[in-house]
Amino acid sequence: MNTRTVVVTGGGQGIGAATGTLLASRGYRVVVADKSESTAAAQAAVLDEKFPVEGGHVAVAVDVTDATMVDAAFANLTERFGSLEGLVNGAGVLFKAPAEETSVDLWKLQLDVHLTGALLCSRAAFPALARAEQPAIVNIASVGSTFGLPGRVAYATAKSGVLGLTRTLAVEWGKHGIRVNAVAPGYIGTEMVRAGLREGTLDEGALVRRTPLGRLGEPEEIAKVIAFLLSEEASFVHGEVLRADGGITIDGTFQ
Ligand SMILES: NC(=O)c1ccc[n+]([C@@H]2O[C@H](COP(=O)([O-])OP(=O)(O)OC[C@H]3O[C@@H](n4cnc5c(N)ncnc54)[C@H](O)[C@@H]3O)[C@@H](O)[C@H]2O)c1
Repeated sequence: MNTRTVVVTGGGQGIGAATGTLLASRGYRVVVADKSESTAAAQAAVLDEKFPVEGGHVAVAVDVTDATMVDAAFANLTERFGSLEGLVNGAGVLFKAPAEETSVDLWKLQLDVHLTGALLCSRAAFPALARAEQPAIVNIASVGSTFGLPGRVAYATAKSGVLGLTRTLAVEWGKHGIRVNAVAPGYIGTEMVRAGLREGTLDEGALVRRTPLGRLGEPEEIAKVIAFLLSEEASFVHGEVLRADGGITIDGTFQ
């Protein structure tokens, strides 16, 4: 089989970077697509050094909320590689505010990045995915897809929407052979969570006590689930939301 190409949005850091690294180690060509041009370029350079592939890994500076930019980026990739075998919609942002103080701008931004961005990238990737062998999309949900998250109304609403997006794309695109699934991570030690710990809006002790496995997750642990969902191993898994959260969302302890 030819080198499989996978686009990872938000691939410059955190879960996206860990995912790109794991996929590159398994022989994929990774397109590191991120709003931050510098982190995308740095991450693609690391992948080229550690896991070289013919034609190289690719850095793309793209804001997933900008339809013109997204369409141009995917048109360019399609022209270059012909087909795409995978898309990971990993770009994310989180802003905290009580619901009654949530500004329309921050509400829209979070829905735009997580929902509109995932739709725009999936839509733009569709023709190249539909031509590929065993193509797959993985979206990133959250504990906010299950829980109400105080102070994060836009984020939790967006992440709940990711479930509908995942299921609907799965139903529409199954006939094209494109599998669509999501992973729902718990609290993972990336900058998104570390910033909350630093600012005191998240309490590590409370999170750890609340999680049956008794710790935060590592980005590499989510990368492994994403790699599974993209792979042939998951060939009949479709429209699924796989939780990887240390058990936090199934714990009914009441105290
Ligand atoms: N860290 C966690 O505990 C956790 C838990 C559940 C879900 N998630 C989700 O996982 C995904 C990755 O999160 P992370 O923790 O790695 O976050 P992160 O902040 O470490 O990385 C997010 C990446 O997305 C990029 N990005 C942001 N806006 C973008 C845009 N408009 N266009 C393109 N790229 C953009 C950023 O530049 C950054 O590289 C997000 O969807 C997040 O909501 C994270």
